[in-house]
Amino acid sequence: MIFEKNILCIGAGYVGGPTMAMIAHKCRQYKIMVVDINADRIAQWNSDDIPIYEPGLDEIVKASRGINLFFSTKIEQGIKESDIIFVSVNTPTKTFGAGAGMAADLQYWEKTARQIREYAESDKIIVEKSTLPVKTALAMERILTSTDNGIHFDILSNPEFLAEGTAIKDLENPDRVLIGSQETPSGLRARDELVKIYAQWVPLEHIITSNIWSSELSKLVSNAFLAQRISSINSISALCEKTDADISEVARAVGMDSRLGNRFLNSSVGFGGSCFKKDILNLVYLCRNYGLDEVADYWEGVVAINDYQEERFVLKILNAMFNTLAGKKICLFGFAFKADTGDTRESPAIFISKRLIEERSELAITDPKALKNAMIDLNGLDGEIKYIEDPYEAAIGSDAIAVMTEWGVYKDIDYEKVFRSMAKPAFIFDGRNILDHKKLFEVGFNVFPIGKPALTHF
Ligand code: UDX
Ligand code: UDX
Repeated sequence: MIFEKNILCIGAGYVGGPTMAMIAHKCRQYKIMVVDINADRIAQWNSDDIPIYEPGLDEIVKASRGINLFFSTKIEQGIKESDIIFVSVNTPTKTFGAGAGMAADLQYWEKTARQIREYAESDKIIVEKSTLPVKTALAMERILTSTDNGIHFDILSNPEFLAEGTAIKDLENPDRVLIGSQETPSGLRARDELVKIYAQWVPLEHIITSNIWSSELSKLVSNAFLAQRISSINSISALCEKTDADISEVARAVGMDSRLGNRFLNSSVGFGGSCFKKDILNLVYLCRNYGLDEVADYWEGVVAINDYQEERFVLKILNAMFNTLAGKKICLFGFAFKADTGDTRESPAIFISKRLIEERSELAITDPKALKNAMIDLNGLDGEIKYIEDPYEAAIGSDAIAVMTEWGVYKDIDYEKVFRSMAKPAFIFDGRNILDHKKLFEVGFNVFPIGKPALTHF
């Protein structure tokens, strides 16, 4: 089959895989090749058991794979054959040297730029999909144009706003697609090429364009604003617990102001995920770099409140259970950083598990999708940890249940049965406020929600 265009994506991760599957699904006239240095990951993408769990992803991958969607390790060939290259390699927080713990580690990004320069034989459009510090496109341009091989590259920024668990829905009906370009004739032509691809299924009024620096920065700022909302509501949850106010009632009252809106106001044990913390720290680092210390301090506060909320949850468990957890069994309901994903990156459950083990409690962890990752995250911890798929079995003999993830299954559990199987007094700490607290109290539990009065039998 002759394809209209050859599209390559470097990096077959959470972002690259689903995004390319959607483009392939919507644009049969384009050939989409996804490459990765990780041969195991590529083999998984080519198998029946694809490496990412996302509702709806499996179907669209299987419907396009081998037709116009291909997964391969042949990066060199992919670069040679492509007209447009999306780069979605990971950009984790740097763990060494200047900016360690804050700045983005750009080594994979730069290595990829050098590979593109080395193997390209024709003009190409390079699309930044990874989240990057503002002005990275400038570095990219300098690397790509540093040899005089007569090849022209246009660099675009097209950040991904998909959220895990709803990735396919977000890709199919995005609030917006953002495309940033240089404002030169060739930059604008490249931008229009990319607009043309998304316009195959996204209404034009949802495709917005901007200069490249605004686009790079908008991604960081979008995530910072979302995280800020969670830290705002979580900070108020602490005050609610001191004043007998109820965080759900406060969130409802605040969210009904149409200027604010009612989403992203669920108080929780803290936000997790691969993006929020990383992107805020990246923003903080950028601000400090430009001498904007007040701005940096402001955003750093969002992360500080999140750390505080996680620690506060542990202390709540400790205080409620008579100031000792040694030898007590605590059952964690959920380990994923949110429901409908097996992803545990930066999940509050990791920090909380470590702290509970420090307090010498025994853990039983249950999760419908994330147990494999949980085992990797907690590997090497010196304490007793059991991983049990069935929540009823996991809870047997425990002193307390702590809800870490808002999985729907935990709402529908027969808590009378669970209560009967637990040690007494039995505690439940609802880190997501998803359970019926009054009912649990009536069953016999001592119930500790977030940001609401506790219901105890003492
Ligand atoms: C990544 C970034 O972390 C994020 O900042 C950005 O917004 C999108 O891309 P994600 O897709 O979640 O997010 O990362 P990950 O699942 O780790 O996938 C990255 C893939 O790139 C991995 O499969 C890795 O093997 C691959 N990779 C990395 C390469 O193919 N080449 C490299 O040089 C480095
Ligand atoms: C986020 C952004 O939403 C997405 O646009 C971006 O592209 C990547 O980062 P994601 O990390 O997948 O997506 O998850 P998200 O749904 O935003 O949740 C992040 C964390 O915040 C989760 O731990 C979630 O449980 C928590 N959260 C979310 C709350 O604690 N309360 C809320 O009201 C909403």
